[in-house]
Amino acid sequence: MNSSTTNPAASPIQSYLERLHAECVGLRAGEVATYIPELAKANPDWFGICLATTDGRIYEVGDTCQPFTIQSISKPFIYGLALEDRGRSSVLEKIGVEPSGEAFNSISLTPGTGRPMNPMINAGAIAATSLVAGHSQEDKLHRILSLLSLYAGRPLAQDTAVYESERDTGHRNRAIGHMLRSFDVLVEAPDSALDLYFRQCSVSVDCRDLAFMAATLANGGSNPVTGERPIRPEFVQHVLSIMATCGMYDYAGEWVYWVGMPAKSGVSGGILAVLPGQLGLGIFSPPLDARGNSVRGVEVCRRVSSDLNLHFLSVARPSASIIRAAYSLARVGSKRVRSESDSLALDGRGERGRVYELQGDLAFAAVEAVSRRIVEESPRVEVAVIDLARVTQIGDAAAEILLALVQSLARAGKLLVFASAEHQVRAVRFWRERLSRDGALQLFVFPELDRALEFCENRLLGKNEVAVAAPTLQLSSHPTLQGLEPSQILEIESRLERRSFAAGELIVRRGDEADRIYFIVAGEVSVTAELTNGQLKRLSTLSAGMTFGELAMVNRSPRSADVRADTPTECYALGVAEFDRLGEKHPEIKMKLLENLLRTLSRTATRLTGEVLELSR
Ligand code: DON
Repeated sequence: MNSSTTNPAASPIQSYLERLHAECVGLRAGEVATYIPELAKANPDWFGICLATTDGRIYEVGDTCQPFTIQSISKPFIYGLALEDRGRSSVLEKIGVEPSGEAFNSISLTPGTGRPMNPMINAGAIAATSLVAGHSQEDKLHRILSLLSLYAGRPLAQDTAVYESERDTGHRNRAIGHMLRSFDVLVEAPDSALDLYFRQCSVSVDCRDLAFMAATLANGGSNPVTGERPIRPEFVQHVLSIMATCGMYDYAGEWVYWVGMPAKSGVSGGILAVLPGQLGLGIFSPPLDARGNSVRGVEVCRRVSSDLNLHFLSVARPSASIIRAAYSLARVGSKRVRSESDSLALDGRGERGRVYELQGDLAFAAVEAVSRRIVEESPRVEVAVIDLARVTQIGDAAAEILLALVQSLARAGKLLVFASAEHQVRAVRFWRERLSRDGALQLFVFPELDRALEFCENRLLGKNEVAVAAPTLQLSSHPTLQGLEPSQILEIESRLERRSFAAGELIVRRGDEADRIYFIVAGEVSVTAELTNGQLKRLSTLSAGMTFGELAMVNRSPRSADVRADTPTECYALGVAEFDRLGEKHPEIKMKLLENLLRTLSRTATRLTGEVLELSR
């Protein structure tokens, strides 16, 4: 094997980040923070960039394993913990959600109440830390460390030197703590909340940790690598909102304008940014600008956002292809082979059945487009199928809208059913519960599109869903013997063998020798093939008056699929040798038989060609 076949191609994302790192490394502006003496020891040249996706892939360049203390980047996570521990209203009583537009250490308390403006400035962060539950100071610290570790996906620990350095010099934060106590925002002496705050700020992380913590928020609160969930999705939204409006302090407005990703910076030089649903960024470079944000970190975020079009308000147009295919039941049918009269009926009535194959995530815009289309087409439609096989996610709002669509179609005397919905457990449960509570409507959900199509065809044909066994067909009325004289039919009959099969019995096995052709006179059989994933795929369902096994008979190759009786089934079987003898003795009978078989086959071929054309539009 030569090297071109063994070496993987370079990732374009990795190459981009390497280029970006090389271009930003020359930025020499900014000063390393010194107000916490221990932070002054940082090397201004340290520079790392990490990007983690919501499916757990990480791209990294530079000093991505260099430890540093998390500092203010801990604030959104502890705010989330306070929400989990105390609930939203208790937290809102203590801490506002308004950007202060001021520096991180400003004493921005709302006049009158003393409530901190938001949880990203120190006052609000100390208040949030005081809300962390725990039966002792150690327990609270343990919970904070465990929480941050769950976000990062590895055990994190404190940097004691930085903690002690801040504890011994954090006079301004102590002043803030006392102010909070005087307004009863803190209900105890401020020392324990302050100590916990200094400790949370001194948790040691690296750039990779920041990226995974960000990706966990981007992923709705579930760590994309470990699957652990440090926060519930409903609180992720609150945390990200605060980060978007307050995360960069007095740079917040410009940040949203230029970068447009909820973010948080820390004085040790870290920046964490989140693009919900897509990725998390972690950048580390200690020199800070006048507002306390990493100079290179800000530049990297601005560049990444514009180069990769990541601004959270630069929303792509809702996918025009949410409806992957839409067609009528006159064009594409189920795998049930219909009698000639039913086929004719469906050619006309089939237009009143519509199928909508959807794909992707069903968020509001997508489901709005789908429901608009279905409603527009509804005057000409009796039954509609939504196929969810390629739908990746149904949001709660989308599930509500689809439910409302089922109900509004029902009020107009129409039926909407769902197919391939097995992986949408949450949405289906929701629909079932709501419809059973309202009582008036039944929910129709089919495991496969094919079964939904059959159900809808039956509706259009006015057939009862409960199958009524059709009377056994006389051999002389079998369409494959059509056009033969009674004496010729007797001639064939003398060579036939009557066979009965129980429901579920295997009649033909794939790979077996093709030894007979079967004429069905009662019951139903299904032809199935096994897919690569082991699932059985129905190729056709045949009933009385139809024939199977003829193809392998004509070309004498082994059976290409299994045939199983769905119900008790009666057939006449014509063996290979008898078929040949019949041809030798009565070529005109054999000719007629082949002509009849060919007519059926050509009908099938025409239908399949139509379906291929319809589905390739
Ligand atoms: O409160 C302090 O001073 C620090 N422990 C954290 C400050 C911080 O990271 C501000 N962010 N840019």
